[in-house]
Amino acid sequence: SSNGESELKDEIQGLLASFPSERNWDGAPLYFYKGVWYPVFAIRGALSFQKHFIAQDTDIILASMPKSGTTWLKALTFSVVNRNIYSPKESPLLATPPHELVRFFEIDLYSKTQLPDLKQLPSPRIFSSHSHYGTLPQSIRDSGCKIVYICRNPLDQLVSYFHFARKFKRENYKPLSSIDEGFDNVCLGILSHGPFWDNVLGYWKASLERPDKVLFLKYEDLKEDIISNLKKIAEFLGIPFTEEEEKEGVIEEISRLCSLDSLRNLEVNKNSVRPSGLPNSSFFRKGEVGDWVNHLSPSMAENYLKIVEEKLSGSGLTF
Ligand code: A3P
Repeated sequence: SSNGESELKDEIQGLLASFPSERNWDGAPLYFYKGVWYPVFAIRGALSFQKHFIAQDTDIILASMPKSGTTWLKALTFSVVNRNIYSPKESPLLATPPHELVRFFEIDLYSKTQLPDLKQLPSPRIFSSHSHYGTLPQSIRDSGCKIVYICRNPLDQLVSYFHFARKFKRENYKPLSSIDEGFDNVCLGILSHGPFWDNVLGYWKASLERPDKVLFLKYEDLKEDIISNLKKIAEFLGIPFTEEEEKEGVIEEISRLCSLDSLRNLEVNKNSVRPSGLPNSSFFRKGEVGDWVNHLSPSMAENYLKIVEEKLSGSGLTF
């Protein structure tokens, strides 16, 4: 309702000043709210999403820390879910960026003053979020909807984020000159949608408590064996591949269509720009496991890993 919108606007204006604020790696402000460091462009959407989103039992939510394989997971999940509607040769992925087929709650759907009309979308609806598990709207946690989370080696996540942040062209903020600039904040977890360990741990614990509700994936596992991970995703979503599909090579076909090289070389991902101004090409870089060795000094890596390991200790989650 328009009442709800103006209410939210006032709420944000009033609240922002009271949130602790720090500088992100790209120099832009981050705001700390309910345990999460939100970039300034995500805060309105995050609050609005938390307040207004109503989940349906058939919804699929893709969650992640930024730069952990979100784009890949979007392409894969969209393909698995819609495999009986579109053959790979006519997949909407060929003409539409993954981030348009599966849209973010915070920085896209709920980022405008006007609330989105999501009731019209065909089910199953697929959405994505960088929010922490504990901040998700209650209706997501209470409904039968499913969550697929993807995480990534913390050092590779950092390096990927560094390259990504350097591409932001923001007025008023000085771009990063080197990777060690601002690293002290990074070590405190002050990074877009961080702290990393809290983002990851919320979903990790939920996946242990409710394995039917939350599927926890690792980027590195997908790189190592995409086929068995595609099967895992399909089974988790209640739409396992049939023997016939396996024989016909449907899983391989999806994995090829969604591969980094395939998506990166599509005209639509090479030459289009997100509404935020970011080129779609910035979501496709190297896609390698262990690329951090080329960018972080051994002591930076060691310090950061030590912090992450301490935070994760006892959880059973390791990298
Ligand atoms: P690198 O910067 O290490 O190359 P996100 O999608 O969460 O923003 O994460 C982006 C990271 O995933 C980037 O990592 C990007 O190259 C990689 N990526 C994007 N699409 C991919 C795909 N189809 N397969 C594998 N990796 C992919």
